[in-house]
Amino acid sequence: MAQNEVEFPDYKDGNDEGVEDRKGDRFGLSGQGEFGNGENGESEVPVVQLGAGTVGGELVKKIKGWNNRENPGTRYRYVGIADSSGLIADKDGLSGEELARILKVKASGDELAEVYAGKAKNIGFLEHLLEGLDRGVLVDVTDADKLEDHYRRALDRGWSVVLANKIPLTGVEPEEFWRFKNAGLSYEATVGAGLPVISTLDHLKRHGEEFREIAAILSGSLSFILARVEAGVSLKQAVIEAKEKGFTEPNPAEDLLGNDVARKTVILGRSLGLDLSLDDITLEPLVELEEDVSQEELEEGLETAGPNFRKRAESAGADGNRLRYVARIDEREVTVGLEEVDREEPLGRGDSTANVVLFRTNNYDHPPLIVQGPGAGSEVTAGGVFSDIKCCRSTCK
Ligand SMILES: NC(=O)c1ccc[n+]([C@@H]2O[C@H](COP(=O)([O-])OP(=O)(O)OC[C@H]3O[C@@H](n4cnc5c(N)ncnc54)[C@H](OP(=O)(O)O)[C@@H]3O)[C@@H](O)[C@H]2O)c1
Repeated sequence: MAQNEVEFPDYKDGNDEGVEDRKGDRFGLSGQGEFGNGENGESEVPVVQLGAGTVGGELVKKIKGWNNRENPGTRYRYVGIADSSGLIADKDGLSGEELARILKVKASGDELAEVYAGKAKNIGFLEHLLEGLDRGVLVDVTDADKLEDHYRRALDRGWSVVLANKIPLTGVEPEEFWRFKNAGLSYEATVGAGLPVISTLDHLKRHGEEFREIAAILSGSLSFILARVEAGVSLKQAVIEAKEKGFTEPNPAEDLLGNDVARKTVILGRSLGLDLSLDDITLEPLVELEEDVSQEELEEGLETAGPNFRKRAESAGADGNRLRYVARIDEREVTVGLEEVDREEPLGRGDSTANVVLFRTNNYDHPPLIVQGPGAGSEVTAGGVFSDIKCCRSTCK
């Protein structure tokens, strides 16, 4: 087939040096006046970002890349960025140099409150920051709980809220979850990282589809561990490798206990409209461990579970199957656990770290509608967050 030659612009945002500075400001974020604040039909949306870790750092770079484009239509002005110790804020916009410095401080493991002593504010200052700034976006790329009051305040002021953080969405009651969603909170990156899982579900709901089942592989880290065991590596070694590659949560027990997948399952279920909480899920951990297990206990647990695990993987392989950690939501129950899956079926085919989400509805049953691709990694996750930022109420007028 003949192909048209199309030259794609370079949107690779991860490289600071790679993007030309068109405004004399590496991040293109140095203040309202510089962009004309509405000149040439462009608008500028204030952003406050909670969290400056792996995903947060990637998001700053992505927004920089966007602002540096010719005629982006909407630009984004960072007015605040926080870690767990404090908030660095400037209503007129943090300069590119300031943002770069903040990321450097965080990359070296320091606390903002310490490095910016006298300038860093308490997170409570967020309330004042929101006053007088209209139609902004509050982004949560932390792993913290109890940030819900900040979301409520932002939404009440007409701001949008965008999350990669799953914890608050499963900590609140279902009614609160739906109130947040209706009020303009979006959370695509909480399930499947950058994959369009929530937007596909919302799309099917708008169609009026009748859901029969969602079956999904929602953990890139657990899929990687299972694939390594399948390849002959011990369970303990597979977990070490997954951690080294940055696929697991900082505490791998969160993955191995199934807590992370259970949270994503609750978010999917609630998005469907189910009155679902973590306690309603029938959960089989990948490895039986105590909550709050120490590093030593974790290693012991992996050594004990290893031989049985290997037997189960080998027996599955002999039958042409693979072990997969699967979340299922159907009319009868919601389950999360280890299953033997036919290697020719969609759930058995995905690459080692891939996420796979099957939606079965009245019109999409045989075959189901499938969303599949990398379901972890800071770059794709930041992409999912930025997509929400661009589509949220504050930006899409
Ligand atoms: N990485 C992925 O592939 C991926 C995929 C999908 C979703 N997510 C979710 O995205 C979120 C961020 O992940 P990450 O990998 O970037 O984590 P991370 O590297 O550990 O970064 C977390 C950041 O949040 C900050 N923080 C913690 N509590 C805070 C609070 N109360 N107020 C303000 N900031 C606070 C931390 O500050 P300190 O440095 O001071 O602790 C840190 O800067 C998590 O919820 C994660 O589950 C990640």
